Amino acid sequence: MRKPLMAGNWKMYKTPAETHAFFESFKPLVASASHCDIVICPPFPDLHAAMNETEASNVEVGGQNLYWGKEGAVTGEVSGNMLKAIGCKWVIIAHSERRQYFGESEPEVVRKTEAALQYGLTPIVCVGERLEERESGKTDEVLAEQFDGGIAPLTPEQFARIVIAYEPVWAIGTGKTATPQMASDAHRFLRQRVAGKFGDAAAGAMRILYGGSVKPDNVKTLMAQEEIDGALVGGASLDPKSFAAIVNFPN
Ligand code: PGA
Repeated sequence: MRKPLMAGNWKMYKTPAETHAFFESFKPLVASASHCDIVICPPFPDLHAAMNETEASNVEVGGQNLYWGKEGAVTGEVSGNMLKAIGCKWVIIAHSERRQYFGESEPEVVRKTEAALQYGLTPIVCVGERLEERESGKTDEVLAEQFDGGIAPLTPEQFARIVIAYEPVWAIGTGKTATPQMASDAHRFLRQRVAGKFGDAAAGAMRILYGGSVKPDNVKTLMAQEEIDGALVGGASLDPKSFAAIVNFPN
């Protein structure tokens, strides 16, 4: 059995004061949720507030990105060591917005994932096709390339400590959710790829999240798919009530 994971990605939203306000309403709403792991990934300047707010709660905190290396002359970047030191347990890697706007590609995905693991963070590694790729029937090809280049180079020990998020780019922030069937097909494809590289046991244990316009009103149907082990949620994670409804999907 794979324990579901519900992760909120706040992207470039919320100040520290707004972070405090969010957790004040969110924590009581999810206090009794033990069926899933709950993670919030705020912008870096909000991490301190998020750590204070989630201390002694069932909510964990993650970064949205990192740079490899422990420290160095790399203006504007944050290391895994720093994320760990402030109390993060998780980090998102290769979100499609990073791939699209900052040109992140497979070799960086590997380096960032290895750096996250080195500092004891759990990487949530994102893959997913763009609209034109889906429309031209290239979804599997793109997922295979992203998996082979960004994830397959990990050792089995490293691989066992990551989470994969399938996020079709055309579904992110657009209100267009992949149908449960589309999501399941992509997850199954990725799991087969995992089995081919790391074996059946690793494939069975790997958590694969779905991301792309997950909302309180579609989360139940998505989570009913055997292949879907949780969600990476953008827009709907900004509001405490709507993210709590997503976390509490079985109720
Ligand atoms: P969305 O974003 O839920 O707003 O579509 C998902 C994501 O980018 O992780």
